[in-house]
Amino acid sequence: MTYIIAEPCVDLIDKACIEECPVDCIYEGNRMLYIHPDECVDCGACEPVCPVEAIFYEDDVPEQWRDYISANYDFFDDLGSPGGASKVGKIEKDAGVVVGLPPRENAH
Ligand code: F3S
Ligand code: F3S
Repeated sequence: MTYIIAEPCVDLIDKACIEECPVDCIYEGNRMLYIHPDECVDCGACEPVCPVEAIFYEDDVPEQWRDYISANYDFFDDLGSPGGASKVGKIEKDAGVVVGLPPRENAH
C-alpha cells in the first residue's frame, strides 16, 4: 500500500507534503507530484498538510480520482526506485491522466 496524490495537486504543486515526508519519496513531475509506491512507508504525515486535500491513502482515494492510483505507480515504471526525490529533482514528464487535463487556471 501507499499514499496517492490526486488531481487537486495538478498545476498547484504546493509542496508542503515534501517537507513532511521522512523518506523523501514524493517526486516532482511537470504538473504534479507523485509518491513512490515502494518507497512510501505509509506514515501518513503528508496527508493532512496538503492545503487542497490532494493526498489519500490508497484505499481511500475518491471514486472520481481512482485513475491516479495507477498513475502514481506507472510514473515510476522507467525510473525504478531512486531512493530519494531531492537528489533526482524535477522529472520532465507526467502520467497520461495528467497530460490530457486542460490547464487548471485557478491553481495558483
Ligand atoms: Fe501537491 Fe498538496 Fe503536495 S498540492 S505538492 S500534494 S502539498
Ligand atoms: Fe512520505 Fe509518509 Fe506520505 S512516507 S509520502 S509522508 S505517507
